[in-house]
Amino acid sequence: MTQIADIRFDAADLDTLAEVAGLLAVLATPEGKLDAGARKVNALTRKAVARAIESDAFAKAKDGDVMRLSFPAGLAADAILIVKSPAKPDQTTARRIGAQLAKAQGKDALTVLLGKTARAEDIALGLALRSYDFNTHKSGTKSGPGAITLLVDDPEATAKAAKTGMAVAEGVFFTRDLTNEPANVLTTDDFAARLAAMQDLGLVVEILEEDDLKKLGMGALLAVGQGSASPSKVVVMQWNGGGDEAPFALVGKGVVFDTGGISIKGAAGMEDMTMDMGGAGVVAGVMRTLALRKAKTNVVGLVGIVENMPSSTAYRPGDVLTSMKGDTIEVINTDAEGRLVLADVLWYAQDRFKPCGMINLATLTGAMLVALGHENAGVFSNNDDLAGAFLKAAGSEGEGAWRMPLAPAYDQLIDSNIADMKNTGGRYAGSITAGQFLQRFVKPDTPWCHLDIAGVASVKSETALAPKGATGWGVMALNRLIADKFEG
Ligand code: BES
Ligand code: MN
Ligand code: ZN
Repeated sequence: MTQIADIRFDAADLDTLAEVAGLLAVLATPEGKLDAGARKVNALTRKAVARAIESDAFAKAKDGDVMRLSFPAGLAADAILIVKSPAKPDQTTARRIGAQLAKAQGKDALTVLLGKTARAEDIALGLALRSYDFNTHKSGTKSGPGAITLLVDDPEATAKAAKTGMAVAEGVFFTRDLTNEPANVLTTDDFAARLAAMQDLGLVVEILEEDDLKKLGMGALLAVGQGSASPSKVVVMQWNGGGDEAPFALVGKGVVFDTGGISIKGAAGMEDMTMDMGGAGVVAGVMRTLALRKAKTNVVGLVGIVENMPSSTAYRPGDVLTSMKGDTIEVINTDAEGRLVLADVLWYAQDRFKPCGMINLATLTGAMLVALGHENAGVFSNNDDLAGAFLKAAGSEGEGAWRMPLAPAYDQLIDSNIADMKNTGGRYAGSITAGQFLQRFVKPDTPWCHLDIAGVASVKSETALAPKGATGWGVMALNRLIADKFEG
């Protein structure tokens, strides 16, 4: 998997700053204040730093913006990076500082003079997250980002504070890698194998194969995968870091490629459907983070892994499927496959684990992009407490999330004439009718949220903490939710 940058914490030695190679970053407050390290760099460069922060460009810069002074006299460094930063940046600003430094860094070694600056661990997290580069399939030499050294007053304490962030970053990288992988690489078998490998981190991982799924009666999930040469699977990942209390459950849609099936999609943009396993990718990333930071609670992650293909064995519009729950489903459109996969995994999760709460994630509907674009995921829930706690966690991690409604009038839209329900609800409120479909597989006493991440899982332009492509949206929010709700 893509490795997170190697970030070291060290004490600053002002007497050797002139010899630092690569890039040397210093912070300057909006008022133009420099700390001891930056003042030393200013002196060594005969006040080049002071001149830069008196410039119009610095005045116009936003917090976290970086100014580059190349080949400075008086220093061995190739460039000085001046970062505009308040003395006490908030979490968002600290992460932005890290992200902007990562963008400026490239392959060079980077040394950052942080001194007493607050939230060095968030600067480190921003650096780690924004230096992600998915280059697995590029030929030629592949070096990761250059080494990063953060010079701080108390290296030991900062390194300790940054440790949780590095567990988060590794979970996010795992999610991004899975979501970015093409479908000829991330086959259903390959996906399951990558999850099974997390046993080494202390997770208990089980792979349910098609025979097992047949015995369980997962007729909805199996129908979606039956047109593909790749076998359908359900993978169960358990993190048991708590006592004997019921676990919290995370459930993910893992469609490794969504052609639409017999209701085939148009050619334009179909290549983007390699990210249709993004929900399962987030579940996997959160489980990785929980294991890496040895979370003190029980969480079970379950993902339904299938490929939606058109073929002579594919399921068809008009087919009537029987779900594990026993409810029957009339297929109107084979491209509304994610809800069929989730129906069986949601039911299995409740049947086996009796979870204290459950959140599912899925790139479920194009209509979600129409409603909220790339800025927010849709949050659908049967429980105001859980929805509120999730929205709060997402807000504090800077991951956009917006509550959407569920109601009986929407539910009626998926009633079928010949079966218990149909898998699409017509043209309007497409994301909501998909949510209503899922809710039919949630027991009323299970606190539950459905997160439709179709618009946020992978995007075409860079975001605050990610280059373009898979974002890993949700790993930080869910990790925060679990930490605050079950470990605090
Ligand atoms: N995977 C798609 C939804 C999607 C679209 C995700 C764009 C990310 C970006 C899903 O399986 C799908 O095809 N949904 C259909 C449902 C419709 C047939 C009711 C859709 O949104 O068009
Ligand atoms: Mn589809
Ligand atoms: Zn899909």
